[in-house]
Amino acid sequence: MQQVRRKLVAGNWKMHGYPALVAELVPNVVAATQNLNMDVLFIPPYTSLAAVSEQVKNTHCFVGAQSVSEYPEGAYTGEVSTRMLLDLGCKFTLVGHSERRSIFGESNADVAAKFLAAKQAGIEPILCVGETLQQRESGDTEQCIDRQLQAVVDVLDSIGGADGLNGAIVAYEPVWAIGTGRTASAEQAQAVHAFIRDEIAELNSDIAEELKILYGGSVNESNAGELFAQKDIDGGLIGGSSLKADSFSAICQAAS
Ligand code: PGA
Repeated sequence: MQQVRRKLVAGNWKMHGYPALVAELVPNVVAATQNLNMDVLFIPPYTSLAAVSEQVKNTHCFVGAQSVSEYPEGAYTGEVSTRMLLDLGCKFTLVGHSERRSIFGESNADVAAKFLAAKQAGIEPILCVGETLQQRESGDTEQCIDRQLQAVVDVLDSIGGADGLNGAIVAYEPVWAIGTGRTASAEQAQAVHAFIRDEIAELNSDIAEELKILYGGSVNESNAGELFAQKDIDGGLIGGSSLKADSFSAICQAAS
């Protein structure tokens, strides 16, 4: 069967990434993945974007940001705008990573505003969604994800409704699996990915069919293959294992 969705593996460096890491990790991963049939995305902190962008120039790899301001410009101390990201060569940005939601208080509405700002600027947002352990244990996983998706759908009117999801990416990251070493099983992950695709299909089935849905949460070189083999898992959003060239390259290999 022909692969409809090309796989993407994105490395979310979080607050790691000094020049030495950029110099060592990026060229190694670029070299190790150059013949693979998949896409590679580095998501370093803002301060390393320029350096990574330089390293991936004229290669098959992309660079993206970990968040973005919903405001275009002005008196917003500490914020980074879409225009600034474009100037640094960013093609993608995460929005609504669970650490942004839980530690920095970003609401579903804040995340939706960032999604819209990115889309309007021509940067593809990677919308992170996922339930907490408590929500999973009380059977609220689908409701939680539905609210996170719906907040974005609600702001899409100004960019053509569901068409605004065209080209966007969703990352399903169960909060209980992030950085814990406790991965969702392939079946658990596939079930939520299928739910997400079905939700989007209710708005537009073509867009749902093309939508890339990444899995994130303690992905490593041992579990990546089984996760990526699932029908609705189109790659991964990798935290800890993206900081080591060998591990990250092996995960990319598992997606090709
Ligand atoms: P992890 O992080 O791979 O270290 O669990 C994933 C993420 O937070 O994107």
